[in-house]
Amino acid sequence: MTQAAVFNAVQEPLTIEEIDVAQPVDREVLVRTAASGVCHSDLHFIEGLYPMPNRAILGHEAAGVVEAVGPNVTEVEPGDHVIACLSVFCGQCDYCYTGRTHLCGNRPARAADQEPRLSQDGKMLTQFASIGSYAEQMLLHENGVVKIDKDFPFAQAALIGCGVTTGVGAALKTAKVTPGSTVAVFGAGGVGLSAIQGARIAGARKIIAVDMVEHKLQTARDLGATDGVDASLGDPVEQIRELTDGQGVDFAFEAIGLKVAAEQAWQSIRAGGVATVIGMIPIGQNVEIPGNEFLREKKIQGSSMGSNSFKVDMPQYIEFYRQGRLKLDEMVTKTRPLSEINEAFADMKSGSVARSVIMFD
Ligand SMILES: NC(=O)c1ccc[n+]([C@@H]2O[C@H](COP(=O)([O-])OP(=O)(O)OC[C@H]3O[C@@H](n4cnc5c(N)ncnc54)[C@H](O)[C@@H]3O)[C@@H](O)[C@H]2O)c1
Ligand SMILES: [Zn+2]
Ligand SMILES: [Zn+2]
Repeated sequence: MTQAAVFNAVQEPLTIEEIDVAQPVDREVLVRTAASGVCHSDLHFIEGLYPMPNRAILGHEAAGVVEAVGPNVTEVEPGDHVIACLSVFCGQCDYCYTGRTHLCGNRPARAADQEPRLSQDGKMLTQFASIGSYAEQMLLHENGVVKIDKDFPFAQAALIGCGVTTGVGAALKTAKVTPGSTVAVFGAGGVGLSAIQGARIAGARKIIAVDMVEHKLQTARDLGATDGVDASLGDPVEQIRELTDGQGVDFAFEAIGLKVAAEQAWQSIRAGGVATVIGMIPIGQNVEIPGNEFLREKKIQGSSMGSNSFKVDMPQYIEFYRQGRLKLDEMVTKTRPLSEINEAFADMKSGSVARSVIMFD
């Protein structure tokens, strides 16, 4: 039996319950969860902005220790430390064959006639994002884990599992921020702070953080933003223009999950600029942009998990951390046990933390 925080229904607190995690078969890896970051994507599902048809184990930003492996696993063995990534890939589709594994649409999963990975009293529980890290154990596929050094701290490793890879990768890999460019990042949470760091690593000369919470703007400055715009004080687009000689930025990132912020990101880029939408805009909402502005070669694009090749990228991000170029300690503002998962979501909603991390014993 494994303790887990169970999602039962929209807008209801998660409940701590015992669940069953199956033994690994084939290329599966059973991991004892050490740390799980609390990412806003989980909250979107709890709030019902995205559908979750079944009872589920949420959580997808995690690191832990391999406990057991299926007979066909070759990359890891019991005792190895790993980061889980929801960009688990099949390795055999056109996206995988062309090096875009993060877009794989054929993610390995158990067939309907197999014992489910997660269950309770014989009834299947949904494993969110093929991970389900708000549980003491995770049953993963080896194409969804990357081995890391044993001396690397678990909380920081967990953050790399989603928020850091998403934000840093959005800047470095999706948008390809150029040296000397100007950047605006809407939202200075776990993902936005990582995009800010990615822009700094890329050599941007001006990085404008936009948030509604003053201490988040301070954290953003500590992590690489050159300027802060408080969106609660008025139209952030005007303030971004003022900071860029009336022009707007070369690169803007939406890292909140708001239609209005995606539109503001578009409005804040200059001719030839690129707006990258990272946030999960609620289903059913359209982002509206004036069509004539395409004449100015403005571009807008999405970004999935920082366009990662995570088995290569995550060790690189760890190296950046060791070199002092990627700051992760500052992003772990609060650690809590699994029993306080609902409080961690309350902290996220109130804006009191950069990132909470659930630590397991
Ligand atoms: N595309 C992907 O692959 C991917 C991966 C991970 C997360 N996400 C999404 O990225 C978004 C951000 O995630 P997170 O975990 O960093 O969230 P978070 O809650 O930690 O951060 C959001 C930040 O936005 C700020 N904010 C809220 N409303 C604002 C407004 N109107 N103007 C300016 N700032 C505002 C908040 O104060 C907070 O600091 C979410 O939508 C999440 O689902 C997407
Ligand atoms: Zn996430
Ligand atoms: Zn594939």
